[in-house]
Amino acid sequence: MPYQPKPLPFSKPLTGISDKTIQIHHDKLYTGYVNKRNEIEEKLAKTDRTAANATYSEYGELKREESFAANGICLHEYYFNVLGGDGAQSKAPDLIKAIETEFGSFDKWLEDFKAAGMVARGWVVLAYDFNEGHLHNYLCDIHNHGGIWGAIPVIVLDMYEHAYFIDYGSDRKTYIEDYLKNLNWAAAENLYKNIKK
Ligand SMILES: [Fe+2]
Repeated sequence: MPYQPKPLPFSKPLTGISDKTIQIHHDKLYTGYVNKRNEIEEKLAKTDRTAANATYSEYGELKREESFAANGICLHEYYFNVLGGDGAQSKAPDLIKAIETEFGSFDKWLEDFKAAGMVARGWVVLAYDFNEGHLHNYLCDIHNHGGIWGAIPVIVLDMYEHAYFIDYGSDRKTYIEDYLKNLNWAAAENLYKNIKK
């Protein structure tokens, strides 16, 4: 069964982040990862496993790019999932309480999340890490480098330049502030509650 791109979970215009950016991001880049995942899986089905080699082999390269495409898909879906909101934290009481408990205060979490956004070349992920049983801000610069097995994303911020450069140039700080204004805390709360079940 081929992978299918999921539609955007919101239709309203965002604060600061333009429709053009969202359209390119979703319809071209994200959908491109879905198409490439399908292409990779088709090729893997026919690839000679007996020629597998760690330095170079068709199978090896396809398996490396399979994880790149797979994470390119799911990280974008997590990112779009928490956009389209109004930034109101009151819609995520359980998640906010957990953030306050585990980071000391909401502001301490936010300071770390924003700092991670300023240095990330790829993604910032507030994840629930089942290995440790707590929330943690992780950073991954490339889709398939830096992810933690057993950590489930709750709030994902895309810091690739394609996510903000059309609207903000190199002004990452304002993009992060606007991202927070658009944050759908109710969607993050739903995700967190499902994880905790
Ligand atoms: Fe992206």
